[in-house]
Amino acid sequence: MSVEGQRCLCVVVLLIHTVTGAGEGPSSAIPTSSSSSVKPDQNELTVTFPPLDDLYSNTPEKHFGTENNTVVTSQTGSTALLPCVIRNIGDGIVSWIRRKDYHLLTVGLTTYSSDQRFQAIHLQHSEDWTLKVRFVQKRDAGIYECQVSSHPPTSIFLRLDVVEARAQISGPTEKYLKPGSTLRLQCSVVQTTEAPAFVFWYHNSRMINYDVERGINVTTDPVQRLSDLLIPAASVSHAGNYTCVPNNAVPASIYVHIFNGENPAAMQSSSPSFINRLHNILLPTLISYNLIR
Ligand SMILES: *[C@@H]1O[C@H](CO)[C@@H](O)[C@H](O)[C@H]1NC(C)=O
Ligand SMILES: *[C@@H]1O[C@H](CO)[C@@H](O)[C@H](O)[C@H]1NC(C)=O
Ligand SMILES: *[C@@H]1O[C@H](CO)[C@@H](O)[C@H](O)[C@H]1NC(C)=O
Repeated sequence: MSVEGQRCLCVVVLLIHTVTGAGEGPSSAIPTSSSSSVKPDQNELTVTFPPLDDLYSNTPEKHFGTENNTVVTSQTGSTALLPCVIRNIGDGIVSWIRRKDYHLLTVGLTTYSSDQRFQAIHLQHSEDWTLKVRFVQKRDAGIYECQVSSHPPTSIFLRLDVVEARAQISGPTEKYLKPGSTLRLQCSVVQTTEAPAFVFWYHNSRMINYDVERGINVTTDPVQRLSDLLIPAASVSHAGNYTCVPNNAVPASIYVHIFNGENPAAMQSSSPSFINRLHNILLPTLISYNLIR
């Protein structure tokens, strides 16, 4: 075969190869073109998302970290703390409003109320704008609004419940004892949100917590909100009005009578008739003498 003939054969082989290759071509080209027709949609979506993400990360959404309609319970005389945590506050300003009379209490860290018991507490870089109410009174109970300036302003509402802690001496309000018997009074502080710092006991107008030499033993457990008064051997001088006075609660009183009511003769004397007269006439005088002393 001449060089010419070899070239010719080569061209034919090439042609055949090209034709068969092109035959496969269109079948694979269809999916390619159809996938490229889907792509613009995908591109559109992926083009749409990033700016939104940027939007969120650049100006994060302002929201409250404190649950709406939170209830705070405080006892009278204590300090109430109404929390208001705001995330991503930006340049927003926090105001506290008392809802019952729409009284503006605080704006930022400034107290607007003439009642200086109200104060906004905010530590630098913290997200909390707590309203502090000192010396809580019953009339402070109600709804408080924590409002953040924005367009429109957003608020959460907190309810302050005020309980009145009070002392309670167990048993009846009058106690009858014979001389020499044990006088035990137990005082519990109820409706408290805070333990008492101290509990004073008064015998009439005298504070007796430290009257150990007069046979009086006072033990107080502030955590259990209990205070016990123990007089192992009560005498007539121990009769009178006992008052339990916790520092942060309404006091309670009980009256203790010490006498041999049913059997005056049991009192140490040889003459029952004398004792009768002593009991009826002189004993009240003796008791008041002892009380004054
Ligand atoms: C909180 O609750 C009150 C209704 O009790 C509602 O008006 C207010 O929009 C709520 N605030 C938020 C931030 O959801
Ligand atoms: C006081 O009473 C408590 C128990 O109530 C007792 O443990 C304590 O020893 C008593 N103290 C005195 C000085 O009697
Ligand atoms: C006992 O003392 C308290 C406190 O001083 C007083 O409020 C109360 O009326 C007194 N009770 C009696 C029966 O005297």
